[in-house]
Amino acid sequence: MVAILGYSPQQITEAVQDMYTAVADRPDTHFHFPVGREALRFLGYAAGDADPLPDGVAESFAGVGNPFTAHAMKPGDTTLDIGAGAGNDSLIAASKVGTEGQVIALDLTAAMTRKLRCHAGDRYPNVEVIQASAEHLPLADESIDSITSNGALNLVPDKRQAIREMFRVLRPGGRLQLADVVINRPVNVNCDSDPRLWVECVVGATVEDSLLAMLGDEGFDNVRILRRLDYFAHSPSLQTREIAESFGAHSIELTAERAGQAPRWWQKWLRRGHPERLLGDLHRRGFLGVAALVLALLSCYGALAAVGMVTALGLGMALNPGLWAGTIGLFTILAMVFIAAGFRRHRSVTPAALALIGSVLVLYALFVNYGVITELTGFVFLIGAATRDLNLRRREEAERLGLKGRNHT
Ligand SMILES: C[S@@+](CC[C@H](N)C(=O)[O-])C[C@H]1O[C@@H](n2cnc3c(N)ncnc32)[C@H](O)[C@@H]1O
Repeated sequence: MVAILGYSPQQITEAVQDMYTAVADRPDTHFHFPVGREALRFLGYAAGDADPLPDGVAESFAGVGNPFTAHAMKPGDTTLDIGAGAGNDSLIAASKVGTEGQVIALDLTAAMTRKLRCHAGDRYPNVEVIQASAEHLPLADESIDSITSNGALNLVPDKRQAIREMFRVLRPGGRLQLADVVINRPVNVNCDSDPRLWVECVVGATVEDSLLAMLGDEGFDNVRILRRLDYFAHSPSLQTREIAESFGAHSIELTAERAGQAPRWWQKWLRRGHPERLLGDLHRRGFLGVAALVLALLSCYGALAAVGMVTALGLGMALNPGLWAGTIGLFTILAMVFIAAGFRRHRSVTPAALALIGSVLVLYALFVNYGVITELTGFVFLIGAATRDLNLRRREEAERLGLKGRNHT
């Protein structure tokens, strides 16, 4: 698999296991996220669910929400808890599915599964503990009635693969309840100098809309957010609170149902290629200026090349000069506006100034006095402006994440 934000999947796995071994074995350590009974309380777990949990399990609770607000479990269910940790939700689930049901508690980190095995023991005979990755569930197709997961998906390198696996093991109509960290603004910067950033829950998290869209792409229906929580406001670390605020990190509790059939590949790609989704993604990643500039260049030189080729083939084709210049002018102005909007992020006027000079030159060449040098110079200024804007955006992100002084591309 390709590296994500500079991390290799192996680096992520090691960082996750280190962090959650500490949560399992040394829960009194100072973590950047809330743990234990205090966290169960502020996340709104019912006393009837949380109080009976053994202290040795509750002390390592590290959930980010209360997925049980979705009531996805029924008595007699075979339930899977993905990223079960020390097993707080697994044990709550065990009482909800009853003696007729079964809970499979799955986690990547050996120390967590050891701890849960030790505490579940004979008291919870309907809980089975498995050490495995959410990306490769060692379970048969359509063998699970309901899935619960709390705070794990944001830590998984390939979230789409994990969602595909959830779909595969759930039976048609099976229910999902999920609590996870999401962000409003994606992280684009290379973070490989600090693997801990991934496990601090913000860098690995998905944009909220993208997570909902991904669930829909992979065959989940009725995807509904039930609650949003300002989870990081409870972080004991000021730096984490600041990072979370600048990326709009928060947690959500959601519910969904597995559709009868997996969507076909072309249905998935139609969904993924929806213009609204593509534009939203370009906007969040700061690429709207580049996209508008590419369209301006394509409508200028691409259209010329296309006409040249068609003419060379002996077919007649003429461009409407007014429409042609208007299209190029429109994309040029859009590029300038989107590049200038980067000021809100990095507070530098350089990209806006370069973009203004570039667009004035292009518009002058288009509408006042055409000169190829003027037009080309204008585009060079615009390319410089877009590049500078992207660099400054990445630098600002890196500074917010505490990654100063590195190459952030
Ligand atoms: C934030 S903790 C939450 C644990 C538990 N759900 C709770 O509420 O206390 C996330 C858990 O997900 C596990 N995890 C992270 N990546 C995983 C993966 N790829 N597959 C399975 N579990 C994973 C970690 O080991 C950790 O125990």
